[in-house]
Amino acid sequence: MNITLSNGKVIPMEMHKVRIVQAIHLVPAARRLQAMEEAGYNTFLLRTKDILLDMLTDSGTNAMSDNQLAAMMVADDAYAGSESFYKLADAVQEILGFAYTIPVHQGRAAEHLLAKAFVKPGDVVLMNYHFTTTRAHFELAGATVLEIFTDEALNTQSTHPFRGNLDVLKLEDAIQKYGADKIPFVRMEATTNLVGGQPFSLENLRAVKKIAAAHHIPLVFDGSLISENAYFIKQREAAYADRSIREILAEMMELVDIFYMSARKSTSVRGGMIATNRKDYYDRILPWLPVYEGFATYGGMSIKEIEAMAVGLREMTDVNVAGISPEFIQYFVGRLQENGVPAVTPPGGLACHVDAKRFLTHIPQSEYPAGALAAAIYIASGIRSMERGTISTDRDANGNEVYADLELARIAIPRRVYTLSHIEYAVDRLTWLYQHRDLVKGLKFIEEPKVLRFFFGKLQPLENWGAELARAFEADFGPEC
Ligand code: F0G
Repeated sequence: MNITLSNGKVIPMEMHKVRIVQAIHLVPAARRLQAMEEAGYNTFLLRTKDILLDMLTDSGTNAMSDNQLAAMMVADDAYAGSESFYKLADAVQEILGFAYTIPVHQGRAAEHLLAKAFVKPGDVVLMNYHFTTTRAHFELAGATVLEIFTDEALNTQSTHPFRGNLDVLKLEDAIQKYGADKIPFVRMEATTNLVGGQPFSLENLRAVKKIAAAHHIPLVFDGSLISENAYFIKQREAAYADRSIREILAEMMELVDIFYMSARKSTSVRGGMIATNRKDYYDRILPWLPVYEGFATYGGMSIKEIEAMAVGLREMTDVNVAGISPEFIQYFVGRLQENGVPAVTPPGGLACHVDAKRFLTHIPQSEYPAGALAAAIYIASGIRSMERGTISTDRDANGNEVYADLELARIAIPRRVYTLSHIEYAVDRLTWLYQHRDLVKGLKFIEEPKVLRFFFGKLQPLENWGAELARAFEADFGPEC
């Protein structure tokens, strides 16, 4: 909940108290440099013992509630027919309004099953923006992914409230061009991860549905950050200011033919699901479930997490749960802006995104500015962020580099995990880094996997800049920090 202090300053206040904690440690800059070198300048390959604030992702790392943990203790661990599954199905019906629920072990498993059931070679899958695993699954099924975002989507210094909107004119054009029979579905991602956690409006979702329905094309909704997208609709779309998150969710879901989510984010558990009201779609997907995931009542998830997911689905409709990360991100972005550090605006969900193209103007995309920035942030602070730029975009079939639309260092805000002092520390070290940005140079691959190379790829700093940066840091802060 945003609270206005007596001096007019607005701060996000946590509407929860902390009752279980995990100790964290700050290893000195010299060790951070060594750890970064061991990790091949890839923050995915760091070990958490070397990390102070793990802001890699909010996926599976949000703090769970007392009620979620309590629910895990009463899980009905059966291979088939588990009552825990029926509790989840009831919650899905109550909150999202779908009659059929298919649990899967995480979001990309849902994408895999959707690709198996709906996507064939030569298809074109339309979407407001791709996510890495989404594109990989649909392309592996032989389809092309076509993103039809608005011009505003790629403006990192925008004031537009809904940069995640799909461009409806481009949607009409694409349907004319490819024909409805080549388009298995239109996918809307809430919120658009790689564009900086930017939401779409309910007005846009309604317009997309109208066009898709006119051509009998199903609307698929990736709800990985659904509660955050609903929170932004409440904040930024005038018609919904007085509506509850639950009401907004219900109105969104009325437009959706197939829903899926990584439950690791909005519901704060480790799992995922697909849900629909169409029996024919359910029957198409279900046969693949035991092949790749597990039986229909657990789908590869731990039953304990299924119990917690049922609770998490209801809890995410609380405005203080849906809004806490967006409010922290808004504060974080505002503080960086005060210090002149180029953060992406407007603040979105998931993370504070720093614009590497504006931060490191001297590094060309061929030398991966966002990857260099994520590595530099770690060396200067012990904070683990994630590259979301060209390294996260694989080469094309001919081996050519495909330059990403945006070069972002993503500093995720897992829900309810960190406090304002952590954010202030991050702001301070990022500001120091910005003042020393000339020390940071590019990266080059030394080990480059073909698919999803950002996970396991290893890189090297050009001109050994990591050591230079660590030395400058030590000179300012001493050997202990
Ligand atoms: N769709 C979106 C929009 C996502 O953000 C993610 C995951 C997935 C699908 C895949 O779900 O990880 O459960 O298999 N995003 C994570 C992240 C990995 O860090 O942003 P998953």
